[in-house]
Amino acid sequence: MLWFNCDGLLPGISIAICFLAVSLAGFLGVLEHTTFSDVDYLCSMAEGSANNREMFRQGKKTAVVLGYTGETGQALVKQLAKENLFSKVTLIGRRIIPLNESERPEFEQKVVDFENLEEHRDAFSGHDVGFWCLGTTRAKAGVEGFKRVDHDYVLKSAEMAKAGGLKHLHFMSTMGADHRGMALYTKTKGQVEEALKVMHFARLSIYRPGVLMVNRQESRPMEAIARFLLVPVAKVFPTAITIPVESVAQAMINNAVSDKGKSVETFENKDIHVLSGISGHCPKS
Ligand SMILES: NC(=O)c1ccc[n+]([C@@H]2O[C@H](COP(=O)([O-])OP(=O)(O)OC[C@H]3O[C@@H](n4cnc5c(N)ncnc54)[C@H](OP(=O)(O)O)[C@@H]3O)[C@@H](O)[C@H]2O)c1
Repeated sequence: MLWFNCDGLLPGISIAICFLAVSLAGFLGVLEHTTFSDVDYLCSMAEGSANNREMFRQGKKTAVVLGYTGETGQALVKQLAKENLFSKVTLIGRRIIPLNESERPEFEQKVVDFENLEEHRDAFSGHDVGFWCLGTTRAKAGVEGFKRVDHDYVLKSAEMAKAGGLKHLHFMSTMGADHRGMALYTKTKGQVEEALKVMHFARLSIYRPGVLMVNRQESRPMEAIARFLLVPVAKVFPTAITIPVESVAQAMINNAVSDKGKSVETFENKDIHVLSGISGHCPKS
């Protein structure tokens, strides 16, 4: 981008493009080098997690994952199976999918009717840690459908899980979430964040990832184009506005096993990179 020919036939347009490219690079550079939270604290959670894992395992805690058939959900399930941290992992969705992890006795898939969640209170009872990775898009579901899934389903299921004993909820929100904002997507996520805060979980961890870098199975052409264009950005400014789903999953797990976490915490994109322990920001990673 930066070696664009500014002396071409249309100098005005060339200069404008050069200016935009430099401004964008500057903006991304600022984002890349801005620390939103306490890096030492995040690194201590990421690094300390290895020691905590054995103790955590001995606690024989149970987990529930919502949205496990999605991209982040599947990365999380893979990692949970690899790390073997929970005595039971309940996977709740609207359909059963073929899953290697299904062969493991501690993993169980449960189908629920999200329009009648009340009828499935049992499925949401008896879990210690919940990972909420549910969501749709406006393009897929329309405005009302999007609100139904990303707001109503998320909050109703969280409330039922809380009533059923859930202690630590990990909620996947988004970069820019703002309950006072104008844009449907970020406003809805912000509203959910606020509503979850007043449910008073023993621990609530909110993740605000940027664009998820994943080879999505489902066809979403606009998202695929955006991701393609963001590949060089992710190379030069890896923590500014993008994140691989595996990093989100690993950050959630590192946080879940940590004994350092606060009762309510919000992790911005860069924080999630650091918390994952695979970003290279921590001395030992
Ligand atoms: N894409 C991004 O770049 C990005 C960035 C930041 C945050 N986020 C947020 O992060 C979360 C996870 O994203 P993702 O891309 O991993 O999700 P995803 O691949 O789209 O998966 C979404 C999950 O929600 C379930 N779901 C969707 N509509 C449903 C409905 N009507 N009823 C029941 N379940 C439904 C899906 O089930 P099925 O498999 O049955 O459809 C799937 O398990 C979402 O909340 C998303 O908004 C995404």
